[in-house]
Amino acid sequence: MAQESAAAAAQAALEAAELEFLEQRTTVTGVDADADERVIESALRPRTLDEVIGQERVREQLSLVLEAARSRGRTSDHVLLSGPPGLGKTTLAMIIAAEMAAPLRLTSGPAITHAGDLAAILSGLNEGDVLFVDEIHRMSRPAEEMLYLAMEDFRVDVVIGKGPGATAIPLEIPPFTLVGATTRAGLLPGPLRDRFGFTGHLEFYAAAELDLIVKRSAGLLEVETLAEGTAEIALRSRGTPRIANRLLRRVRDYAQVRSDGVVSRDIARRALDLFEVDETGLDRLDRAVLEALCLKFGGGPVGLSTLAVAVGEERETVEEVAEPFLVRQGMLARTPRGRVATAAAWAHLGLSAPAVAPYSDEATLFGGS
Ligand SMILES: Nc1ncnc2c1ncn2[C@@H]1O[C@H](COP(=O)(O)OP(=O)(O)OP(=O)(O)O)[C@@H](O)[C@H]1O
Ligand SMILES: [Mg+2]
Repeated sequence: MAQESAAAAAQAALEAAELEFLEQRTTVTGVDADADERVIESALRPRTLDEVIGQERVREQLSLVLEAARSRGRTSDHVLLSGPPGLGKTTLAMIIAAEMAAPLRLTSGPAITHAGDLAAILSGLNEGDVLFVDEIHRMSRPAEEMLYLAMEDFRVDVVIGKGPGATAIPLEIPPFTLVGATTRAGLLPGPLRDRFGFTGHLEFYAAAELDLIVKRSAGLLEVETLAEGTAEIALRSRGTPRIANRLLRRVRDYAQVRSDGVVSRDIARRALDLFEVDETGLDRLDRAVLEALCLKFGGGPVGLSTLAVAVGEERETVEEVAEPFLVRQGMLARTPRGRVATAAAWAHLGLSAPAVAPYSDEATLFGGS
């Protein structure tokens, strides 16, 4: 079927491009995926909207947008997908292409350093293609400006020459659908954000949803599990399918080597303790951030850069990876004066909070950045 081969081609293109573009670090609890993991991930990716577990709202919104486009016989509006790493942005981008039976072209913001790079990609598109730009917030400014025009008018101005003699030659682009993914929607310039017809915000997953994801993956990987075993993995997966799938594989290893291969609750607990994933799913980085905040800075407020240096991580990693989950767990708050630990953070570390909360004069706590 045309749709299947398009999806298979899209899949292959995606894998190749992901390997090429993304240099990744990996630990058992880190949220990024490395090369080997990407191969496994692609085997575990849902292929259709119906197969996607959770994200009810985004799924329903997206299905409406796509169905409307299909019934009009037009390309879909541009789609922006935002949310922390590992929640399914790339998965949804691939599904959009598959549902539209359209070829998927893949690139990423950091790969587009000049407007010329983008012009080359855009001019190679065919009508109806889905262009996926991962990490779209990291594109260069001139490329961004070129993209505005392409998204709105399906045209780019290619500048030939330099200085006063430079001329802009307009180039028609066939109608296409841009799917942008970003972990930092706040960093996208307004004009770019406004040109997306639909923005899907992916949320962390509930434990029950992760449980279904773990069960589905266990089925695909032919791992025998007991209900309490998958539930334990789900609880400790930090609300993130990528982590759920990874923990499942580590627990499977443990079950095979230390036991009879069956993932029971006891085996899951022992394995996850071994890999330093705690009962609420906090990983090493999350705990390092909380410990620095409480033990080194008395609970804050402390600036993001200082906090990042204290845990020996990049600012972006702390902000995009650790913080969203800690904020969601109610352990960290972002205030105008910096990051502060909440009472829940102190409690989680088994410490008692200072008598006067350091941020008690802050009436408003910022949920976003
Ligand atoms: N809703 C879901 N149901 C089942 N599995 C999912 C779902 N969402 C994500 N996954 C699984 O999680 C893994 C990671 O998802 P994906 O690569 O789409 O995340 P991402 O948001 O693109 O992350 P990043 O920001 O790091 O690029 C995939 O292999 C997929 O199998
Ligand atoms: Mg991705």
